Amino acid sequence: MLQGPDRRNFLVLAIQGLGAVIAGALGVPALSYLFSPAKTKNDATWIDVADLAKLPSGEPAEIIFSRKRVDGWKVVTEKTSAWVVKTGETEAFALAPACTHLGCAYHWKQESKEFTCPCHASSFSIDGKVQAGPRRGRWTGMNRG
Ligand code: FES
Repeated sequence: MLQGPDRRNFLVLAIQGLGAVIAGALGVPALSYLFSPAKTKNDATWIDVADLAKLPSGEPAEIIFSRKRVDGWKVVTEKTSAWVVKTGETEAFALAPACTHLGCAYHWKQESKEFTCPCHASSFSIDGKVQAGPRRGRWTGMNRG
């Protein structure tokens, strides 16, 4: 049986040991969080969406494809689209399918050779440059009764 100074020393050592265990349990994750490099993994990758030889030259084609998107811990496969314009035998560029104003899906108008947005009538050139911005109070698309 421990008595006197031996018992006191044991309790001090036990408390210090327990403190060290708790400090380690809290400190190691905190230090690894602070000093580990930020998440640098870039998930952006190129995806083959179309055969360039089959695309019309100088005319936009809406390509629908699937891609994987990381949302937190979930990896979601989703369908999306892009407007692809073939500019040469081995060259093309792609445009995001959302209008730069509020994100409506725009469409190619063959007659006027421009992209037009049905929501507020913005128009864009074949290379995506804004030709006309949104028009106030103009709804030309889906919400017409
Ligand atoms: S969302 Fe396209 S013009 Fe407003």
